[in-house]
Amino acid sequence: MTPELAHASSLIASIPDFPEPGILFRDISPLLADAAALRTVVQAVIEPFTGSFDVVAGVEARGFMLAGAVAIAAGVGMVPIRKAGKLPRPAAAVSYDLEYGTAEIEMSDDLPAGTRVLLVDDILATGGTLRAAQELLSRLDYPLAGTAVLMELVDLGGQRVCGPVHTVFRV
Ligand code: PRP
Repeated sequence: MTPELAHASSLIASIPDFPEPGILFRDISPLLADAAALRTVVQAVIEPFTGSFDVVAGVEARGFMLAGAVAIAAGVGMVPIRKAGKLPRPAAAVSYDLEYGTAEIEMSDDLPAGTRVLLVDDILATGGTLRAAQELLSRLDYPLAGTAVLMELVDLGGQRVCGPVHTVFRV
């Protein structure tokens, strides 16, 4: 790992028992607040996919922050994959299980046919969220250029559910 990536990694805070007892919450906010660290991880997210995608899709809510930065750095646009009930014109919806709870995500179909999508989120835990997001893209016939996250929680086995996922950090 480069010194720049190691510094970025050191800025991710681990918060015990949030949002529920027994959950170790990984807070990427301090990393995002550091200009050099943000630039470093954004480049690390993009690197394997350079030239292979036309738009970035980010998953609500923490995925939005990373996806917007990745899109600007890559010179493409960004589309939101939102929790159910937030989009005015959802074209597809997929339900999934979370590490803590259940949820449903939705996406619009405003992109031109054949738009290659790089799917981005902050954390890969059980993989349920990204598997649901991949299913959304599939239902809407958008080609998946790749899936990338800032951090993978290896013990939760997400790669088996929605892999291969490009991950910048693994814990
Ligand atoms: C978190 C995280 C990922 C997802 C990972 O989102 O941002 O999207 O969980 O978990 P999984 O791999 O087990 O599906 P959360 O649903 O907590 O929403 P938030 O981004 O709005 O905080």
